[in-house]
Amino acid sequence: MSKQDVLYEVADGVATIMINRPDKLNALNVAVVKTLREFFKNAEDDPAVRVVVLTGAGEKAFAAGADITEFKDKDSKTVRPLAENGQDLCTFMESMSKPVIAAVNGFALGGGCEICMACDIRYASANALFGQPEINLGIIPGFGGTARLPRLVGLGMAKELTYSGNHIKADEALRIGLVNKVFESVEDLRAAAMKLAGKLALKPGVAVKLAKQSLNKAWTMSVGDNLKFEVDAFCETFDTEDKDIGVDAFISKGKPEFKHE
Ligand code: COA
Repeated sequence: MSKQDVLYEVADGVATIMINRPDKLNALNVAVVKTLREFFKNAEDDPAVRVVVLTGAGEKAFAAGADITEFKDKDSKTVRPLAENGQDLCTFMESMSKPVIAAVNGFALGGGCEICMACDIRYASANALFGQPEINLGIIPGFGGTARLPRLVGLGMAKELTYSGNHIKADEALRIGLVNKVFESVEDLRAAAMKLAGKLALKPGVAVKLAKQSLNKAWTMSVGDNLKFEVDAFCETFDTEDKDIGVDAFISKGKPEFKHE
């Protein structure tokens, strides 16, 4: 496949990654998952990138799931790498040091819903539809959906969505906490996602990284261990130049210009 099936662009501290198979509703074939993983690694390693925005090409789909045509001749042994690579992509996005914003423009189904759940912040357009329809194929989510969906929306709602395969609209996704905000059009969505990304790109990078790490611990650690992690991370920020820049700017009533160190 050509890397054109995923587009990557960096401007003003923001890397935009766009899944670009609109004719196939941006379905995530093996090659797309591999390229996404490479591009997220590029974004993590590039000091010019402070924030990542993930979206899908066109108006109709963010991603309509794993590419079903690749399931046809697979069995329990041969399909394993597909799920493992999808999970690895999602885990990398979730644990990388920079915030990832999903701009969900249309269908976010199956693996599409799962990669959007691995993002830090989810914005959607009013035409977005979310769901885990794998059950209708006789299979279950494999990119981390059974782990992340209940943590985001609660076990009862996650079970209903996963057992039924139902799609839910953007307003319902907003109501259950699956997305943070809904915008009338895809154009408004993209503008809002880029505006937020631009704003986050100016925040002190080390503090953002440590905040992300500490917030992520809430999913896996006890409150006590999370609090210990937080106090260590809080102390670490006090050794950064950005802490001096931020505090001095407040006291002198100026505007901080962070160095991300
Ligand atoms: N894998 C592979 N191809 C897919 C796909 C997927 N997950 N989702 C959509 N496509 C393809 C369709 O096969 C079709 O290709 P074609 O034009 O060569 O026939 C094209 O994308 C457009 O999809 P289409 O079904 O015609 O659009 P629609 O508007 O009628 O329906 C959906 C949209 C999303 C409801 C429907 O495509 C669908 O149910 N997709 C599968 C969703 C799913 O089960 N995802 C989880 C997979 S584990």
